[in-house]
Amino acid sequence: MALDRSNPVPNDLSAFWMPFTANRQFKKTPRMFVSADRMHYKTADGREVLDGTAGLWCCNAGHNRPKIVEAIQKQAAELDYAPAFQMGHPKAFELANRLRDMAPEPFEHVFFTNSGSEAVDTALKIAIAYQRAIGQGTRTRLIGRERGYHGVGFGGISVGGIVNNRKFFGTLLNGVDHLPHTHLPAKNAFTRGQPEHGAELADELERIVALHGPETIAAVIVEPIAGSTGVLMPPKGYLERLREITRKHGILLIFDEVITGFGRIGTPFAADFFDVMPDMITCAKGLTNGVIPMGAVLATKEIHDAFMQGPEHMIELFHGYTYSGNPIASAAGLATLETYKEEGLFERAAEISSYWEDAVHSLSDCPHVIDIRNMGLIAGIELEPIAGEPTKRAFSCFLDAYEHDVLIRTTGDIIALSPPLIIEKAHIDTLFGTLRDVLKRVN
Ligand SMILES: Cc1ncc(COP(=O)(O)O)c(C=O)c1O
Repeated sequence: MALDRSNPVPNDLSAFWMPFTANRQFKKTPRMFVSADRMHYKTADGREVLDGTAGLWCCNAGHNRPKIVEAIQKQAAELDYAPAFQMGHPKAFELANRLRDMAPEPFEHVFFTNSGSEAVDTALKIAIAYQRAIGQGTRTRLIGRERGYHGVGFGGISVGGIVNNRKFFGTLLNGVDHLPHTHLPAKNAFTRGQPEHGAELADELERIVALHGPETIAAVIVEPIAGSTGVLMPPKGYLERLREITRKHGILLIFDEVITGFGRIGTPFAADFFDVMPDMITCAKGLTNGVIPMGAVLATKEIHDAFMQGPEHMIELFHGYTYSGNPIASAAGLATLETYKEEGLFERAAEISSYWEDAVHSLSDCPHVIDIRNMGLIAGIELEPIAGEPTKRAFSCFLDAYEHDVLIRTTGDIIALSPPLIIEKAHIDTLFGTLRDVLKRVN
């Protein structure tokens, strides 16, 4: 039936087609947040909900942080927008410098995007164009990993390895291959931190290289810690091995740090924590505390400089977004990085992570729990799926936790937790106390 636009219904939820959401279920029993402060959201019905997920892994400094709010307000009144192509404004340069200073040493240049998905597609394009720029134009293949999540652009879903994110969308990019995933529950279940088993899975890259020929491969992209697929930590030695093999064959290594960037595991980036340096890092989310959309690709001098040739009036990289380095996003990014620094939030995350680890592993005796994984302020709790109804048990946990004032996130039958880095021990107790009750209640 045609919509009667002359008679709008108050609070009509029908027009908004919600992303990655069970729309029909949601619209029958909506869950609405109307405000947020530090560790809590407030719901439309006036409840305070503890944020166990930093929004979507993005509000690392917690909510409603004064410096960030003020920076956005001020910037909106001062310079709302400046063209991103052939023009600049100071804050984008300042933010790029701050990011460079915060990033591990090899990363000297920053390309701004508006999301993690765009950062990924940008990094993949830079990888292929870089190979061409250095006379390796046959290197066009991209290698991802099963269960990988790299956002939702065609590049990202092509190198990604989450079946439902791929199978509805046609043939995707060609020339893509995948490493095996590293989830080995039979050997690694209930590991604290990095699992012992699985480094040898990186050697599969040698097989893929032999199959296609190294001269056809531009880059390998992995999440150092896979989040959206259900929180998978890299086995000890795995990332080191990937680095060794990629270097040996002239293949670029990209770390997708959209969730691991900005203190999530107690260091600025996971590359710092694992002491493995890729050639590019993608980031987003915590870059602006999730407040204004922004992403970035960090690239080494070597990659950047390969493009800086030819006549100086010519554009060197035919890529960019209307909102790359947007003034308000840049202001939010600057204030966010300042907040992290002033409050020592990365160090704080490192300090509290052992309390977090003990708390999450205390759930190992709860019903349905078949694995628990953790690192920094990240935890994954894997549940036995209900036979024939995958994802249902974890989704019931999500709904039950929300009813009991705790926000968790689930993916498949895995509960994924990633709180703001300002979390206190009392919040951790509440979070896992509530989860214990949730797990007892759900079927
Ligand atoms: C590792 C990784 N890459 C990329 C993305 C996509 O980011 P966005 O949703 O900002 O496009 C995500 C989002 O969760 C992510 O976890």
